[in-house]
Amino acid sequence: MNLLVTGGAGFIGSNFVLYWLKKYPEDMLVNLDKLTYAGNPENLKSVENNPNYKFVKGDICDAKLVNKLMKDESIDVVVHFAAESHVDRSILDPSPFIKTNIVGTYTLLEAALKNKIKRFHHISTDEVFGSLSLDSKEKFNEKTPYNPRSPYAASKASADHLVRAYYQTYNLPVTISNCSNNFGPYHFPEKLIPLAITNILEGKKVPIYGDGLYVRDWLFVEDHCTAIDAIIHKGRTGETYLIGGMTEEISNIDIVRKILNIIGKDESQIEFVKDRPGHDRKYSVDWSKINKELGWHPKHDFDEALKLTVEWYVKNQEWWKKIKTGEYLNYYKRQYNR
Ligand code: NAD
Ligand code: DAU
Repeated sequence: MNLLVTGGAGFIGSNFVLYWLKKYPEDMLVNLDKLTYAGNPENLKSVENNPNYKFVKGDICDAKLVNKLMKDESIDVVVHFAAESHVDRSILDPSPFIKTNIVGTYTLLEAALKNKIKRFHHISTDEVFGSLSLDSKEKFNEKTPYNPRSPYAASKASADHLVRAYYQTYNLPVTISNCSNNFGPYHFPEKLIPLAITNILEGKKVPIYGDGLYVRDWLFVEDHCTAIDAIIHKGRTGETYLIGGMTEEISNIDIVRKILNIIGKDESQIEFVKDRPGHDRKYSVDWSKINKELGWHPKHDFDEALKLTVEWYVKNQEWWKKIKTGEYLNYYKRQYNR
């Protein structure tokens, strides 16, 4: 099988590329990535010389390039991760989110149609469903109405609608997965868990938005990769599958306490800061459809996976210390005024 992976130099994309090439060494994989601030070729050093792997630096909004790649590389399956992915950056400046997440997805869909792609798998997020209240027992499922509340979430929701429209209107064989918050190796240190780990290791404070009692449904990135694998191999076209983790509800502040505990530091490194505008209170995902239909379930216990993740950041300080310079520091100052 020949795959075109978009955004394969980012956090989840690079974990997926490494996972796929190891599990399916006979497949050909082309990784198209623009290498924005979030893309990092270092993540893929171990496969650079693999003859079945090819890296192409480019933009998913470039219609000529994506058409040529799908044609010349005889692509069967597109796995579309490329996106602007950080909610806080979408609040500071929505424009690249509109371009990449909406126009980029449209550009890929058009090329997929022209090139008779056998499967277009679109990676989306549980953020399209909006926010649950803390005392709600409700979980998001495949029938939950869309209610995006940040520019990032709205751009992902728009992309999902386009993907569905290409299935309904043109019979493009698509699948969509909406998953919850991932964590694990190669996670860019602007997101809560890697930001907390690296700030603690640097002896800095960890900024907690508002009261810190926000809840996410944490999923270890390797479990996300196995879910996408199951959908590509066994999923029904036209269908959406929700993917979530194994966490009992846990607040942001408790996650940071767990990380402090693993590293052996105390709570003096926690700092409460101004809340995120429009901050979604809680996400919770019902993943029973993918479990019943495709036999998938998350395998990693949250505490064990968090420990593995902290250990990875302790061992790979060179990786994140290189990132936490230049553009990152400008962003950090703008976002946190620190
Ligand atoms: P990321 O920000 O770490 O990586 C995004 C990658 O896309 C980068 O390598 C970047 O260079 C590339 N990219 C950005 N714009 C591009 C463009 N115009 N053309 C080509 N490449 C471009 O993101 P991530 O956290 O790995 O998320 C991957 C996907 O999963 C996204 O679609 C995101 O919406 C979705 N998602 C992420 C999470 C999460 O917890 N991280 C949860 C649910 C869904
Ligand atoms: O739910 C899936 C989504 O998860 C993905 O679609 C997004 O791409 C991904 O970035 C993530 O979005 P979140 O906004 O939930 O992740 P983030 O790590 O930015 O924040 C997690 C929680 O931690 C959220 O409640 C905000 C809070 N937070 C975050 C940062 C960066 C803080 O309290 N302080 C911080 O400095």
